Amino acid sequence: MNWPSHGGQPQTMKKLFNLEEEKEVLDFSANLNPLGPPGWLKNKLHHMYEKITYYPDPFYSRSARYLADYEGVAAEQILLTNGGAEAIFLAAKLCEKGKAIIVQPAFSEYERACRHYHVKTEYVFLKEQNGFQLPMEELLKKAGQANAVFLCRPNNPTGTVIQEESIINLLEKGLSTGTMIVVDEAFADFLPAEVPSLVRHLAHYPNLIVLRSLTKMYTIPGLRIGYMIGSKEVAGKLQEEQMPWSINALADAVVPDLLADTVFLGKTRKWLEQESEKVFTSLKEMGFSVTDSKVNFYLFQDAKAPDSTEELFGFLFKNGILTRHTHNFPGLEGRYIRAAIRSEQENNEFLKVLRNWREKR
Ligand SMILES: Cc1ncc(COP(=O)(O)O)c(C=O)c1O
Repeated sequence: MNWPSHGGQPQTMKKLFNLEEEKEVLDFSANLNPLGPPGWLKNKLHHMYEKITYYPDPFYSRSARYLADYEGVAAEQILLTNGGAEAIFLAAKLCEKGKAIIVQPAFSEYERACRHYHVKTEYVFLKEQNGFQLPMEELLKKAGQANAVFLCRPNNPTGTVIQEESIINLLEKGLSTGTMIVVDEAFADFLPAEVPSLVRHLAHYPNLIVLRSLTKMYTIPGLRIGYMIGSKEVAGKLQEEQMPWSINALADAVVPDLLADTVFLGKTRKWLEQESEKVFTSLKEMGFSVTDSKVNFYLFQDAKAPDSTEELFGFLFKNGILTRHTHNFPGLEGRYIRAAIRSEQENNEFLKVLRNWREKR
């Protein structure tokens, strides 16, 4: 099967599965916040129409200042990007024609960005048997011979969070070997307060680069807002490499308001806490194994029939639930399904279909 490389493509998937175009499906394959975008955003964008007749500030100084305050760093350490995706490509540019380690299974764009800049890649695999823990010894050894390590925290697709202590060990090692540690925190806004961002470690580790995205929390994949945070030197160097006016004027204009909406953030975290607990408990009760996810998506498989994942994926889809296949995640090769936590009503429907699956087995 010619599996699409990303989630959120219901029409492509319908063609692959010979389902009629009009068939209604609930999309659990993309990891966007079902409560978003914030209600005020539509009106705000509408009233900003005039902005499209001007070039945006090429340095995005206002947004950078707000982001710097939000993150507790200097504005010169922030580089606004066209979504988290551009931040990934800029980070790969830093090790052009060099070598990078990618901690897998992870988001596929690290590999693609490295290929784009002729960076040789080597994989280190999270240990599936140990709840997708980092193989520290192996990673430290390999990191020493690389220009950069790419890892995702919280990790897409597992939803698990690599221990902070392990990252510190890696950063220490990187300081002595000249290795950049690139941490993609695209989903960090969904983490509970007791799991803070790594940004505060930038003060001690100039070899740390943190990549962020506003896409997931605010459900704005079409607006394209991301940023990277690094040392002033790294951020300055990457700004030189960035295409001019990479971020559009509307995206630039809404950054301060998005950051200020703490009510939306609080509501989202409350929803996630309630819904994820309900979904995980029900899945486990039905005999599915679930990763120890701390965010709005997770991996699962039928613990009573681990080899039935492909069949289960098809069963869900034919019953109106689109999940994310894992065929293009090295280290998973389709053995799991990734699903998002959605609204209460959608999650109930998802669990109902899974109950039907269980009854048939
Ligand atoms: C881990 C991770 N990082 C970055 C991105 C890219 O996000 P954006 O839409 O902000 O470019 C994604 C999108 O799926 C992702 O899953």
